[in-house]
Amino acid sequence: MLFGKAGAVLVTGGAGYVGSHICKALGACGIEVVVYDNLWIGHEDFVKWGTLERGSLHDTEKLSEVFKKHNIRAVMHFAAFSYVGESVKDPSSYYGNNVVGTLALLDTMVEHGVSHLVFSSTSATYGMPLTTPINETHPQRPINPYGKTKLVIESMIDDFDVAYGIKGVKLRYFNAAGADPECEIGEDHDPETHLIPLALDAAAGRGPGLTIFGDDYDTEDGTCIRDYIHVTDLADAHVKALEYVIESNETTAFNLGNGNGFSVKEVIKAVEKVTGRPVNAAIGPRRDGDPSALVASSDKARRLLLWEPAYPGIEDIVRDAWQWYQKRFPSSD
Ligand code: UFG
Repeated sequence: MLFGKAGAVLVTGGAGYVGSHICKALGACGIEVVVYDNLWIGHEDFVKWGTLERGSLHDTEKLSEVFKKHNIRAVMHFAAFSYVGESVKDPSSYYGNNVVGTLALLDTMVEHGVSHLVFSSTSATYGMPLTTPINETHPQRPINPYGKTKLVIESMIDDFDVAYGIKGVKLRYFNAAGADPECEIGEDHDPETHLIPLALDAAAGRGPGLTIFGDDYDTEDGTCIRDYIHVTDLADAHVKALEYVIESNETTAFNLGNGNGFSVKEVIKAVEKVTGRPVNAAIGPRRDGDPSALVASSDKARRLLLWEPAYPGIEDIVRDAWQWYQKRFPSSD
């Protein structure tokens, strides 16, 4: 156990897609988990490991109470808005929820003498890639408010380290995908904007079919390439990152991706193969702000966290997503 007998890890946004998978991984390590979530986006039934404390990051009185009540020893921070398109239309909500909310969380950590943090950042902080694969030294020039809010938070963590000794590991994910292989939790967004669940919708005959956002990119088949990383691999990396930040006591960043890129058309093929059903897909215009290819170099995480993704192939990722999809949306059978 990380903290001996006493003490818990606070997981903000632990009722969400990525956060809930991290709670499962922490629970499997015997770590006491407290989920702090306002359930705006998260699902109560995803909180299966640990205690749910329903609250907002802006409610600093409640947050402070939770730190005290549960003897919080470290924080993993997922609570955030994360839709790129929405962030362009409504930056105020994004800065308010993501940046101001995180400031309240960091202040509460300082108040309670909690100095270790794992932060859910994103490859969107890099903006348009100048080189590929992207490593952690790539310039961070986000091109949308969502990515900018996450970059501001990364800077806040650096500054809180210098001034107050907060040590944070910033994990920059590429495309989180798949679902718990034991099918207890998975992806359930409203609205859904991500490629794999939308392609599963199309395979299941739900909704109007999939639009491929552009097939005139400078890639082999003309569609965008992304680095899809199984959410269980992400969860494993988070547990390792928590151990790392406690042991090393240093603030640093890691990319989390597979290092393999798959095009939109390749993902659709994988969905067709796994589901055994055709995906009704039509070519549409490009989506604003989509780089042609985003692929991670996660060498640093492999080296320092001793992390190795267990699901490098797209079909295995899609298989777990499909298994979950059929359980969550049974009418698709
Ligand atoms: N795509 C389509 N049609 C769709 C949805 C997506 O063609 O209906 C394409 C996109 O253009 C993109 C790829 O599928 O090329 C993946 O798109 P997603 O929306 O699933 O994921 P993104 O790469 O846009 O976004 C992910 C995370 C964001 C994060 C971003 C970092 O979901 O939170 O990576 O670049 F900001």
